[in-house]
Amino acid sequence: MSKQLKIGIIGGGGIAGAHVRAYRELNDVEIVAVADAVPGKAAQFINHWELSGARAFDDYRQLLELELDGVSICTPNVAHYQVTIDALRAGKNVMLEKPMSVTLEEAVEMAQTAEKTGYMLNVGFQPRYDPNMKLIQDLVQSGELGKVYYVETGGGRRRGMPGGTFIRKEIAGAGAIADIGCYSLDMALNALGYPKPLTVSAYSSNHFGTNAKFHPEANRFDVEDFGVAMVRFEGDLVLNFKISWAMHMDTLGPTLFLGTDAGLKVTPAGTGPWSGVFDGKVGSITMYHDIKGHHTESAIPLIAHNKNLFHEKIRDFVEAVRDGKPAPIPGELIVRNQAVIDGILRSSLLKREVEIHL
Ligand SMILES: NC(=O)c1ccc[n+]([C@@H]2O[C@H](COP(=O)([O-])OP(=O)(O)OC[C@H]3O[C@@H](n4cnc5c(N)ncnc54)[C@H](O)[C@@H]3O)[C@@H](O)[C@H]2O)c1
Repeated sequence: MSKQLKIGIIGGGGIAGAHVRAYRELNDVEIVAVADAVPGKAAQFINHWELSGARAFDDYRQLLELELDGVSICTPNVAHYQVTIDALRAGKNVMLEKPMSVTLEEAVEMAQTAEKTGYMLNVGFQPRYDPNMKLIQDLVQSGELGKVYYVETGGGRRRGMPGGTFIRKEIAGAGAIADIGCYSLDMALNALGYPKPLTVSAYSSNHFGTNAKFHPEANRFDVEDFGVAMVRFEGDLVLNFKISWAMHMDTLGPTLFLGTDAGLKVTPAGTGPWSGVFDGKVGSITMYHDIKGHHTESAIPLIAHNKNLFHEKIRDFVEAVRDGKPAPIPGELIVRNQAVIDGILRSSLLKREVEIHL
């Protein structure tokens, strides 16, 4: 029988439950401890999820004193930085919820700490586990599109604003741009091999979140619910990014890759006011190209699957820990995702173009 991997959970809120469900599917994993900053909440979480034998802590630093193979960090965004640094220094492999951090400086230090300590920093972008995401990456990297010079990504929800810890800057750090924007940026940038971003010119607003007509917690809403940006990358590539939690429109459009030989259009799966963003499965992939001078549209057949993307991300992390493999979605790479988000937030605050120094 293989060794039981010991896992701790830090932050016993909403998404931590999804982590528990996914770990439970795996035979060789045991959740041995939970920490939550709200006194008594970790014990309640253990009780609720019937994690018999697991120890509860109000201070995550006590949890980090245990012998653990890995920790899931499920705290709100502002705590990602310090908890990750402490976990890596305590010799724990980290499965970190998205977005990676609040600022670029934090992300850089987190990735450097992973490198220095030799422990894994894995960032949880579960849409990557739709096999069609890999198909998009393969198509973009196959050379079929020629030189890719322009990408458009993001998408938008007509009405899909979260509440609670997601809408306070002091806890979330940012709104829609980081919360769901990180996924679409990951989709496009990963397909392109994560090129280095150079400059950003961005705009953001929060006309919906701060209006009681649209949000029940309007009086405490202080992050952005909409953002657009023009991002330049090395290699003479430009990316047009658009994201919304709420708007008077059905869509902000699909993801487009324009190349000198062909173009690729990708739509997200799902319907309804919370859909329209790339936070889950792929809906369609179409290639636009010329065949003997004829404008041709080729529907790329999707790979059918019943994968639970969230469970796949946890399984991949566990397998990497167990087999001593590198982080499946390494913090070192996702620093570039955070660099773009950081640039967008800075530029929209300053209302001018900013440079990204990496
Ligand atoms: N991958 C996904 O699909 C997905 C979905 C939702 C949320 N998330 C991410 O997960 C994270 C948490 O979101 P959530 O919805 O579970 O939030 P939540 O507010 O429901 O839960 C967060 C928990 O962390 C605790 N906490 C805060 N600071 C802490 C600290 N320093 N130490 C220990 N515990 C602390 C809070 O008390 C709370 O119980 C966010 O970063 C969010 O972006 C990811």
